[in-house]
Amino acid sequence: MTDGFQAPKGTYDLLPPDSRLALAVRTAMIDAARSGGYEYIETPVFEDTDLFARGVGESTDVVTKEMYTFDDRGGRSITLRPEGTAAVVRAVIEHGLARGQLPVKLYYSAPFFRYERPQAGRYRHFWQIGAEALGTEDPAVDAELIVLAADAYRALGLTKVRLLLNSLGCRECRPAYRAALQDYLRGVDLDPATRQRVEANPLRVLDDRRPEIQALLADAPLVTDHLCAACKAFHEEVRRLLTDSGVEFVDEPRLVRGLDYYTRTLFEFVHTGLGAQSAIGGGGRYDGLSEMIGGPPLPGVGWALGVDRTVLAMRAEKIAPPPAARVDVFAVPLGEDARRTAFLLVTELRRAGVGADLGYGQRGLKGAMRAADRSGARYALILGERDLADGVAQLKDLTTGDQEPVALAGLVGTVKEKLQ
Ligand code: HAM
Repeated sequence: MTDGFQAPKGTYDLLPPDSRLALAVRTAMIDAARSGGYEYIETPVFEDTDLFARGVGESTDVVTKEMYTFDDRGGRSITLRPEGTAAVVRAVIEHGLARGQLPVKLYYSAPFFRYERPQAGRYRHFWQIGAEALGTEDPAVDAELIVLAADAYRALGLTKVRLLLNSLGCRECRPAYRAALQDYLRGVDLDPATRQRVEANPLRVLDDRRPEIQALLADAPLVTDHLCAACKAFHEEVRRLLTDSGVEFVDEPRLVRGLDYYTRTLFEFVHTGLGAQSAIGGGGRYDGLSEMIGGPPLPGVGWALGVDRTVLAMRAEKIAPPPAARVDVFAVPLGEDARRTAFLLVTELRRAGVGADLGYGQRGLKGAMRAADRSGARYALILGERDLADGVAQLKDLTTGDQEPVALAGLVGTVKEKLQ
């Protein structure tokens, strides 16, 4: 122990073999985004606090309770990003990316920070793969993103993923729904804090997970009954394209999600093998976000998939991590001169694209051979003093046990040939 230091509360160290699982998850999600023509974007880990306050919404839990906010030495209020969408939209506006061909399709793979109460699947530092398509109001883009995510989960071998789907309407029809919901909520018995929320942001009340609140919401009006004709048609088209693509979904008219920028399409992927923190990914359309942060009209839609929770979902489904990266050759030098020669041979092998490792430390033959076996290498390359004098090394096939001398001159070529 290092003076008792531990990873900070709500964080954890990602260690093998789980780190392999996490990398496999990230790769599958990134592959999905790239297969749809999404390009990589990287934005800073911190942004102006106001970007999130205005983008994510002043009355959301994320902004009121969960942000890592501090003044920097220049007196600016800075926030560690709690999510990626506001920052991507900020970058697209700042650099005029939407002046070119539309939609602008971007993906990211990055850590995010929320000061949440830690529990299984809920961390203060977590990883998302996100994808955002900006500049197009075409339901096919919404469907594309959902299909890409669903296919990524499937490619990982997950079978217990459910897709929840909703539409939140637009600036035309949302106000009437908001008013209807407010009317209903004013008529039920709520605690003072929730009452306040009814006035400030009634849709947030639908997100309240407390069973007593959920019970009171049983007869609340549904957003899907208040959609305007355009929103209804848009939503039907998304549903149709999902069905045509063989992606199953469940209509969930009470789904609102915890961020204020959503309009129209809204979705969440939940895993039935996880506990309370079952949302392994989610997203939706955010046609007004750009204007909320002072930009021009710029419709958008996207998702963020939670890597940490997807790893937990894979563990719950007993999906094994991919095997550790193996080297092809493990060199076993016996003696000082052999050690230097082995170092150079290993370097040459690697430069030629052959994975190679070396028995470090002053180990005897037995210990070094055990290390070679453990490495999973196909060949051990044993170099004794006599071999050196003869200009050879002993190449031992670790699967068959066969051993033969190989000339040091041209050794890299010989090994490469054998590996093919
Ligand atoms: P979100 O639902 O807040 O959406 O987060 C997306 C995913 O990140 C969640 O489904 C979950 O898997 C993971 N996640 C969130 N918070 C935590 C946490 N504390 N610990 C572990 N995992 C967590 C967004 O962030 C939106 N920006 C998604 C989006 C993109 N909407 C449109 N474009």
